[in-house]
Amino acid sequence: MVLVSIPFFNAVKSISTRAKLFFYSAYLAAFAVLVFSLLAKPKLPWMEVAFFALLIFVADSFAIQLPKKAFITVSFAIIFAAIILFGPLAAAIACTITVFNVSDIRRKIPWYKTLFSACNYIVSAFITGHTYILTGGVVGNAASSAFPYIIIPLVLSCAVFFIINTALIALAVALLYGESAINTWRYDFQWLTPNYFALGILGFILAQIYASSGPISIILLVIPLLIARQTFSVYMKLRGAYIDTVSALVQALEAKDPYTRGHSERVAEYAEAIAKELKLPAEKSEILRYAALLHDIGKVGIARKVLNKPGRLTNEEYRKIQAHPRIGAQIIGDIDFLKEAVPAVYCHHEHLNGAGYAQGLSGDDIPLLARIMTVADSFDAMTSTRSYRPAMSVEDAAKELIACSGRQFDPKVVKAFIKTLNISLENNERLEEEKQLRIAIEETV
Ligand SMILES: [Fe+2]
Repeated sequence: MVLVSIPFFNAVKSISTRAKLFFYSAYLAAFAVLVFSLLAKPKLPWMEVAFFALLIFVADSFAIQLPKKAFITVSFAIIFAAIILFGPLAAAIACTITVFNVSDIRRKIPWYKTLFSACNYIVSAFITGHTYILTGGVVGNAASSAFPYIIIPLVLSCAVFFIINTALIALAVALLYGESAINTWRYDFQWLTPNYFALGILGFILAQIYASSGPISIILLVIPLLIARQTFSVYMKLRGAYIDTVSALVQALEAKDPYTRGHSERVAEYAEAIAKELKLPAEKSEILRYAALLHDIGKVGIARKVLNKPGRLTNEEYRKIQAHPRIGAQIIGDIDFLKEAVPAVYCHHEHLNGAGYAQGLSGDDIPLLARIMTVADSFDAMTSTRSYRPAMSVEDAAKELIACSGRQFDPKVVKAFIKTLNISLENNERLEEEKQLRIAIEETV
């Protein structure tokens, strides 16, 4: 299964020194493994190893892209079979063929990434193979007769390959794209764990069938391998369908309220930046992104003449506008994969001091995702041009957020957001003091 090449679409132009060091270390480790393997002059059935290398090459050429830019394949089943049949040195040598990754060439993936993926395979196969042997695994045709006594070595080595392979890719993504390695791992790879072990079982069966019936028998396993690949593909398409659904809803809103054009996407970007700064888990960030994109979807239920009214709203009209968080929550509440985004959408106009709407919640009763969205939404509103006022500068909007934090906004969310803006606010401390003084006076009154 597994992870093969790294995403590397939209490659970054300049690679950081840390990333370079990481890649060079991976190349060096793989080179050392290959030199060690060849110097050991193993007595290998080279034609059969070449046959398995060819199988790995084919499996690797049909990679499926994951959300965070990594790719997966079903190669692990074949690599695992090669480990069981021929041992770690042969498996590591066979993995060298992945340097010629057709899928990467077709996608114009930079060579250093393809090389890294191949090195990742080589190192993972080598360590996995030794784990298998050291824990009591049997290499060669005798493996089937050693079953079930080799279950523990099989499970352990399967886990070792999964951990090394996915951890190295998550680290590479983190270093290249500035994302959290743990978040990338959890988002892209955690769900693969059971599938991975299923591929390990498939690899073991493949080794047994090959040992008893020879290369032709491999054809029997093409179908289960294709099914395994199809499972990944369907899962990824499902995720793609979620994104399409959200985009369609956003477009429906923007068609009704042109004012919001681009607003939802910007709010989502700001919200995600805050989530990253607050180190929220990947699954929360995904919910937050959906919620931020759809936070104003309830406006589709508000009359156009009220929504686009140029002048001041009457109390009745304002009351109608205030219904949009509730309407939005009702709309997305009926869509299964958006259910977790409902509280954030419902509460995105709540104020920390309880003066907001639609329920008048305060403090920690307001969900964190909603508190994040409030800051992102307000910042974008302030820095966007309106018919009745020009856009505020980023610095002025940031100062306004600080001035209102503790009352309208959650201070820790504001602090995280200001950090992501990467601006230096003059008199920031003075602003903070003024705010504290204002709050103290309000409390006194
Ligand atoms: Fe709103």
